[in-house]
Amino acid sequence: MTLDTATPAAEPLAARIPAGFVIGAATAAPQIEGAAVVGRRTPSIWDRFAAEPGRILDGSTPAVTADHFHRRQEDVALLRGLGADAYRFSFSWTRVQPAGRGALDPEGAGFYDRLLDELLEVGVRPFATISHWDLPEGYERGWLDRETALRLGELAGLLGERYGDRVDSWITINEPATVTLNGYALGIHAPGDSLLFDALPTVHHQLLGHGMAVQALRAAGVQGAIGITNTHSPVSPASDAPEDQAMAALFDLVHNRVYADPVLLGHYPEVPGFLGDALAAFDAVPAEDLAQIHQPLDFYGLNYYMPTLIAAGSGSGESPDGESAAMSALPFRLLDFEGAPKTGFGWPIAPDGFGRALTEMRDRYGDTLPPVFITENGASFPDTIGDDGRVHDDERIAFLHDHLSAALAAVEPGGVAEGIDLRGFFVWSLIDNWEWAAGFTQRFGLVHVDFETGRRTPKASYEWLRAVLAARA
Ligand code: BGC
Repeated sequence: MTLDTATPAAEPLAARIPAGFVIGAATAAPQIEGAAVVGRRTPSIWDRFAAEPGRILDGSTPAVTADHFHRRQEDVALLRGLGADAYRFSFSWTRVQPAGRGALDPEGAGFYDRLLDELLEVGVRPFATISHWDLPEGYERGWLDRETALRLGELAGLLGERYGDRVDSWITINEPATVTLNGYALGIHAPGDSLLFDALPTVHHQLLGHGMAVQALRAAGVQGAIGITNTHSPVSPASDAPEDQAMAALFDLVHNRVYADPVLLGHYPEVPGFLGDALAAFDAVPAEDLAQIHQPLDFYGLNYYMPTLIAAGSGSGESPDGESAAMSALPFRLLDFEGAPKTGFGWPIAPDGFGRALTEMRDRYGDTLPPVFITENGASFPDTIGDDGRVHDDERIAFLHDHLSAALAAVEPGGVAEGIDLRGFFVWSLIDNWEWAAGFTQRFGLVHVDFETGRRTPKASYEWLRAVLAARA
C-alpha cells in the first residue's frame, strides 16, 4: 500500500505490541448476518422493533444487512487476509434456538459449525458472544422478566456442549449497560421501552443471566476461556458545582458500576442518599443471586468508545445513539465536548479517555480484575469508494492508531493503568454493518460493504492494520 505522509507508520506501533497480544476484529449477528427468514430462524426483538415505523433512522431492517450468512467464506478470507489473530462474532439466538427454548436447531447451528471450522483452519481464534442484543421475539417482557436469565443459561449450556471444543473464548453477554439504557430506559433500541429508572430490573436479570451462562458453560466442560463484555465510559462533571458532581456520579453508577461491581466484587454499588428510592431495589437483592452473578472469570471484556460529560438538569432528548423523548425526564443531561474532533456519529474522539477507563477498572477492582480484552473499539466515518476504487478512511486509521497506542501506553510500565493484564484488542468492526437504530447511516468497518450488492471493498484502514500485524516481531 502507498502510505501518504499523514498516515501513522505501522512499524513503531507494531514494535510496542507485546508478544502474544491478540489483535482481531468484531461483529454481531443481527448487524451482519441477514438471512432473517432462512431455515427455521424466527424473528428476534430487533426484527420486530425495526418493523415499527420511525424506530430506525433510515427505515431499514436487519433482514439482509451485509448478508454475511451467505458470504461467510468471503468474510473468513478477509480475516485471513488481514492477518487477524482472532475474530469476535455472536450467535443469532433465533437461528440456533428458533423456539427460544429446548434443543438447538441442527440447520441453524450448522452455520456456526462451518464458521468455527473455517476460522480454525486459517488460524483465527474464535471469540463467541452468546447474547449480543437479539432476544427471541416471543420473550414478551424481555430482560424485565427473570425467566430470560434462565433462558440465557440454558442456551449457553447447549452452545457449550456443541462448540465447547472449538471456541477459544466465550462472552456471555454484550454491553448490558447499553441494553438497559437504550432498550428499556430510553426506548432507542429494541424492545423500545422508555421506563427510565423502572428499567433497573433488566440490570439484575442480565447479570443473573451472565452468571447462569458462566455456570452452564463450565458444566458443559468448554475448553475456552469465559468472560463478559461491557462498555465503559469515564464520566466527568461539567463543573465543580455539587449538583453536576452528583449527577456525574449517578451516571457513572448506572452506566459503569452497577454492572461491573456485582460481577467483579459480588455486590451492587452503594447508592448515594440523594437518589432516594430510585435504586432501592438493589438493596433487596438476595445473597444467592449475588453469588450466582459473582462467578470467577477468565477475562473481562471492555468496550471503549468515548468519555461522557454530565451536567445536572433535564436532558435535551439527544443521546449518543439517537433521539429519546424520555431523556428529557432525567435529572441530568449529556453535554457536547465542544471543540473535540468527532466521529460520524458525532461522538468525541478522545483516546486519553481509554487510559482513564482502564485506570478506573484497576483502581476499583484491583486484584479481583481478571485479564482484560478490549472487545470493541472503533469509529464510524462517512466512507465512500473513490474514483480510484479505494476507500481512503484516513480518519479511521488515525483513530485506531491513537486508541490502540493509548491502551498499550496505559498498561505499560509507568502507564496510568499499570498492573492491568491487557491481553488483546478487537476493532469494531470487521465489515460495515447495520448500526441498530442508525440503520445503514454509520459505517464502522475495516471493509466497506455496498448494501445493495453485498460487495466488499477493504478500506485503507484494513491495509494499514494488516501492515501493523505483519510488522510485529
Ligand atoms: C455495540 C455494537 C455497536 C457499536 C457501535 C457497541 O455498543 O456492541 O454492536 O455497533 O457499539 O455503536
